[in-house]
Amino acid sequence: MPSKILIIGACGQIGSELTTKLREIHGVENVIASDINTRKLDLVNSGPFEIIDAKNFNAIKDCCKHYNIDTIYLMAALLSATGEKYPMEAWDLNMNSLFHVLNLAKGSTIKKVYWPSSIAVFGPTTPRKDTPQHTICEPTTVYGITKQVGERWCEYYHKKYGVDVRSIRYPGIISHKAMPGGGTTDYAVEIYHEAIKHGSYECFLSEDTNLPMMFMDDAIKATIDLMDASNEDLTIRSSYNLAAISFTPKQIYESIKVHLPHFEMTYKPDFRQAIADSWPSSIDDSVARKDWNWQHHFDLDAMTKVMLKELKIKYLN
Ligand SMILES: NC(=O)c1ccc[n+]([C@@H]2O[C@H](COP(=O)([O-])OP(=O)(O)OC[C@H]3O[C@@H](n4cnc5c(N)ncnc54)[C@H](O)[C@@H]3O)[C@@H](O)[C@H]2O)c1
Repeated sequence: MPSKILIIGACGQIGSELTTKLREIHGVENVIASDINTRKLDLVNSGPFEIIDAKNFNAIKDCCKHYNIDTIYLMAALLSATGEKYPMEAWDLNMNSLFHVLNLAKGSTIKKVYWPSSIAVFGPTTPRKDTPQHTICEPTTVYGITKQVGERWCEYYHKKYGVDVRSIRYPGIISHKAMPGGGTTDYAVEIYHEAIKHGSYECFLSEDTNLPMMFMDDAIKATIDLMDASNEDLTIRSSYNLAAISFTPKQIYESIKVHLPHFEMTYKPDFRQAIADSWPSSIDDSVARKDWNWQHHFDLDAMTKVMLKELKIKYLN
């Protein structure tokens, strides 16, 4: 029997590419995309799609029953920058959606759950360089608090109820398909779009703000590799540290300038600078590399080449 998969929040930056990849692997009819809106029409029209509010337990339950779902990817969330503007909404969505999915998985036919955490679980008291898997987590954003608490609940549901929940602390994710959804690392996507469209970019972080990042292809591969890993190999049921590249706005600017010599960049840090300053500059992901053989493929220059190539096709053709 093929796996029947439900993706909640499938129209987002990561959810949309994850849905496409899972449909390639498992067959279109076995991957049910869902979101609170239908803004990604290509995704809505390319396979089964349901409108589901992630805060509505019965809606998730009914959908799982209707399609005989055995695996859920919960990708709906309010991200770091938006969460600071709407703290109670972030708490409500990020926590209740997770509880609904964990409670549904408890003692039901749901065999596996994927729920992403974030480098936002760390805070100003965390060691910033090569941040270890097990370390101080005192997040200062509402988003970070929801991810930290979510991690604790995932581990609890695994230990107490045997729920097979798996998680990754994503760094900032960079892609050329969907736009990012209101995070502190969004500049690293916007910069490529603006470089192609206008030849200049005003960055909302300072030039030397070093943050952990990852190209989307690596993030999707990591997610699927973790979900395919055998149960016995997994030693972390809160969330795995995951790393690929770390760079500053100045370094990404220089990487783009190799291909677009006239590209100009200015800096105007806003409220997101304080969030970025509370996060690590690099991550130690040796546990993920050991447990499920995680390896990244894209460095900064390889990513820049693909981003500029794809965005040139999008905007200049
Ligand atoms: N993108 C990143 O750089 C990054 C980094 C770390 C962690 N993450 C995590 O990965 C997950 C996906 O992030 P993303 O960047 O794709 O987010 P996104 O903001 O791009 O997408 C979130 C999706 O959830 C949907 N949504 C919002 N409220 C909903 C509701 N009530 N019910 C159903 N759907 C709802 C939105 O319509 C959107 O399509 C999140 O948990 C996020 O915290 C993302």
